Amino acid sequence: MEKKQLHKLLEQMTIEEKIGQLVQLTPNFFEETDGKGEITGPLMEWGMSKRELYNIGSVLGTHTLSQVHQIQAAYLKNNRLGIPLLFMADVIHGYEIIFPIPLALASSWNPELIEEIASISALESVEAGVNVTFSPMADLVRDPRWGRVMESSGEDPYLNSLLTASYVRGYQGDADKLNENFNKIAACVKHFIGYGASEAGRDYNTVDFSDLVLYQDYLPSFEAALKAGAKLVMTSFNTIKGIPASGNQWLLKDVLRNDLNFQGLLISDWAAIAEMIPHGIAVDKKEAALKAVSSSVDMDMMTNCYQSSLKELLKEGKITEDTIDQAVLHVLQLKNDLGLFEDPYRGMKGKQQKTVTFTESIQSKARELAAQSMVLLKNKDLLPLDLKKTVALIGPKATSQDILGAWSWVGKQSQAINLKDALKKEYPDLLTVETDSLTKITANEWETIKRVAAKADIVVLALGESSEESGEAASKATIRLPEAQEQLVKVIKAINPNIVTVLFNGRPLALEEIAENSSSLLEAWFPGTQGGPAIVDILVGKVNPSAKLPMSFPKTTGQVPIYYNHMSTGRPMTQQNKQEKYISKYIDVANEPLYPFGYGLSYTNFIIEDMKLSATQLTENTKIVITVNVKNIGKIVGKEIVQLYLHDISAEIARPVKELKNFKAIILEPNQKQEVKFEITVDDLTYIHSNFKKSADKGFFEVFIGTESRAPKIAEIEYV
Ligand code: BGC
Repeated sequence: MEKKQLHKLLEQMTIEEKIGQLVQLTPNFFEETDGKGEITGPLMEWGMSKRELYNIGSVLGTHTLSQVHQIQAAYLKNNRLGIPLLFMADVIHGYEIIFPIPLALASSWNPELIEEIASISALESVEAGVNVTFSPMADLVRDPRWGRVMESSGEDPYLNSLLTASYVRGYQGDADKLNENFNKIAACVKHFIGYGASEAGRDYNTVDFSDLVLYQDYLPSFEAALKAGAKLVMTSFNTIKGIPASGNQWLLKDVLRNDLNFQGLLISDWAAIAEMIPHGIAVDKKEAALKAVSSSVDMDMMTNCYQSSLKELLKEGKITEDTIDQAVLHVLQLKNDLGLFEDPYRGMKGKQQKTVTFTESIQSKARELAAQSMVLLKNKDLLPLDLKKTVALIGPKATSQDILGAWSWVGKQSQAINLKDALKKEYPDLLTVETDSLTKITANEWETIKRVAAKADIVVLALGESSEESGEAASKATIRLPEAQEQLVKVIKAINPNIVTVLFNGRPLALEEIAENSSSLLEAWFPGTQGGPAIVDILVGKVNPSAKLPMSFPKTTGQVPIYYNHMSTGRPMTQQNKQEKYISKYIDVANEPLYPFGYGLSYTNFIIEDMKLSATQLTENTKIVITVNVKNIGKIVGKEIVQLYLHDISAEIARPVKELKNFKAIILEPNQKQEVKFEITVDDLTYIHSNFKKSADKGFFEVFIGTESRAPKIAEIEYV
């Protein structure tokens, strides 16, 4: 449909029809209306008539194609102008085939792979009638107590931006061709903004940071998503400068709409508009609606604030019809962009069954990906496992199918392949002791564990959390595994020190005890449907681990927030001064994390040598080319991710001690050497100054190249 026609359509709409378009509800609202029965359930509670229901703009959270068909068909029969509904869902790491959680995917440091996953998710979503996914979550996170860290790409703005854009490209393809390309869906980047900085890691809690931090750390991933063409943005639950995001005019109008030039559909998070009341900035739903609509929030997710108040606000002259029209146009525009006016079923007419799910190629992709996202944290020679040895698999996660992680949309645990079933294929005589609970080991279990551990050459310990322990509303004040699991490693170590621990969890954990008592340690995250086989691929060496942490793992919870790209202080701790008193340190624990950002081992070793710089000075129009040789000095082929960090020594505004600027993944055969080239231009030196403009400071910059964020300094360069 031409843009002109959209305006014509708008002209034909009554004010009730317009307001309806701005409302999003769950499918159960439709279940109450069989065309003849009484108004019950949600409709009654909200005082909403069936006529009003058949004016709403969107439905969230359908689970099957037939559900979408049914709702859309009933809706179109009743909607006066035949405006189709938009269907949205939380397809976060797969639709039915579940891929590793986003934090795990980020550990692959592989933008192409993430794009591929997103495009598979899009395909599956389309087949289930979904038009929009509430993904990617672009929130930067530096506090692993926050349960939603599992949905993020971690602590670094550069990596976060790169991966966020990959998701968007994967879901949407060419953003201008969604109306022809029915294999794609629209992406909704969320949560705008700062949600990852919830105070003390407690979900929905206060957020307060400076504008500089906003621009420098939290905005870049959203900018990247919009640049990649993301069609929607979702507001966050938290306050920014004391005002909840959904009613924050400065944030949404000045920053998002004006500075970032976002012209798409802005949707509130679930009930976030009404939550302005408990936040204490609105006395009732009407005032909340006024604040949200005046801030350019187009769609109200799951409250009746807009439905019940916009007409009255208009009558009272508190808002203009133009404000409503703008919002409605954003909704109609998205429907048009998706081709829904031409085909409300988006290519689904006649189709009853999804065809994509569980094809062999998607299964093997899920397996490949899961293996690429597992981080080898420690290896004292036990891995890869020797197939001739006797192996015992012990622990609460040994046979567990709870390995999908939170937000696993319609993925079923029963479809996940657990570690035991996969490991048994390699070790038909595998000894297994599953313990029933994550937090307790019974006397009987202890007895069997001790007996079996003594019999085996190697113990594979499967530890971790349940899926519900991370994700939304799953913040934790202590990020250790339960005492019983720590005890398990200790007791087994006394019997058999050959322990390979495999971890299933959704956040960085404080693992000091576990690491100390394990010979090898593999972070498998929540690896998804193909988790078991993927872990085994790593354990037996069919896949050489290559993933790198996208977030620091602290030694203890008290160190958080802990992140590699922190600021310096006036009294930084160094190797030389660490015994002194009046410096920035803890007196009971080191400043450093247990495992830093960018860290991850391989079954082979790499060295970086022969560093060369094309120049030591650069200007606005020149660049410095840095080359290094990377050599595989081990015995097997492996992938290394070579990382480049910079530090501005004397800036206008103090800069982080290190900032990731680039990375390159290379695969090397044993003894193979390859040149890796990085180019540094003035772009890499720029940051937001006190005038809120991006520019670079003249002067010296330190350059670090390595295989993790503790990369050594290899040069100093000067911007002249
Ligand atoms: C979450 C969003 C999600 C929405 C819809 C909210 O509770 O914060 O991330 O997209 O629900 O399910």
